[in-house]
Amino acid sequence: MSSALQGKKIVLGITGSIAAYKAAVLARALIKKGAEVQIVITPAGKEFITPVTLSALTSKPVISEFFAQRDGTWHSHVDIGLWADAMVIAPATASTIGKMANGVADNMLVTTYLSMKAPVFVAPAMDLDMFAHPSTRRNLDILRSYGNHIIEPASGELASHLVGKGRMEEPETIVKVLEGFFSTQQQLTGKKIIITAGPTYERIDPVRFIGNYSSGKMGYALAEACAERGAEVVLVSGPVNLQAQHPCIRTIHVESAAQMYEATTAEYKNADAGILCAAVADFTPESVAGTKIKREKDDLSLRLKPTQDIAAALGRQKRDGQLLVGFALETDRELEHAREKLERKNLDFIVLNSLNDKGAGFRTDTNKITIIDRQNVTPYPLKSKKEVADDIIDRLVSLFN
Ligand code: C5P
Repeated sequence: MSSALQGKKIVLGITGSIAAYKAAVLARALIKKGAEVQIVITPAGKEFITPVTLSALTSKPVISEFFAQRDGTWHSHVDIGLWADAMVIAPATASTIGKMANGVADNMLVTTYLSMKAPVFVAPAMDLDMFAHPSTRRNLDILRSYGNHIIEPASGELASHLVGKGRMEEPETIVKVLEGFFSTQQQLTGKKIIITAGPTYERIDPVRFIGNYSSGKMGYALAEACAERGAEVVLVSGPVNLQAQHPCIRTIHVESAAQMYEATTAEYKNADAGILCAAVADFTPESVAGTKIKREKDDLSLRLKPTQDIAAALGRQKRDGQLLVGFALETDRELEHAREKLERKNLDFIVLNSLNDKGAGFRTDTNKITIIDRQNVTPYPLKSKKEVADDIIDRLVSLFN
């Protein structure tokens, strides 16, 4: 069977770490899988491995300077960024990771990184204390927030003879990560997926609203996961402090449940699936005061009317072949309530998260879910919202198949 790396154009960035010798093995392994490899190396990287070795392995000149030394040809980092299907920086030193996180483009590698249109994978390599330093942790978090994939270093004996976490992951593992990425990338190609995310704000007067604690993190992670697998994503988002990164995500910003209903029902008409992750208000003020409500009385009553249930409306609108996924955040009798919603809203499956589970629910970076369909109840362990998103999208992909 041919590898998912067949014909893929990979920029391999090499920095000044002793693990640079493994980059030669990585380049060779990628080429054996059918990939085309262009190496970009930092000046310090060249102290650890010679460009002659690398260019012999890849059959391409190694790029390290803005200008080729012999004939003065200019190397366009923009062209490399457009050419690549992926960039892998292996090994990535603390210094390069810091430069990438902060846009310090003082060499060809970081300049190429900043111009990169394709997904970027970073395989750190450094001594355990450098890896554990708060600045390294923070810079890696920044890279994650840019949508870059971090290939965590392994634990073991380091070049310093100290033992700990910091060893660059082995070339064969890095190849597996890339192969896995490219093989899942096609799973949702040609599919349009609508995702709702975040809270809704229901206006009371010009300065006040009824809202909830939803951060939108789970919905945004789902949007990124679908886009990474090739889908065209429409993200209907309530007010959150997040921004979608992937170019295949179109965000429609809404505020109220009514606006979310309008946008979502219109977009679902020609969609293949809807994932309803938003924490939509169930009630909204019957009327919105035109001016700020004054503190004149001892008490204030607001009359609320129900909002439209978007999930139930899409469940009625759903055609053959369309999929619909809902969420249930419960505090009691979780399974029973989730099953009831699965039926009432005509969902294909429902993702249950319980406020009783530590680390699950609102504003956390982790979640613990159970996926419920008409046949099975599948509990998952506590994971990052990104990993949870992948589990949910795996299920969606299996239903499409
Ligand atoms: O009934 P409940 O609000 O608990 O159902 C949760 C599920 O229904 C979620 O998927 C949520 O996004 C969706 N929902 C909706 N419109 C509403 C209320 C909830 O789409 N008005």
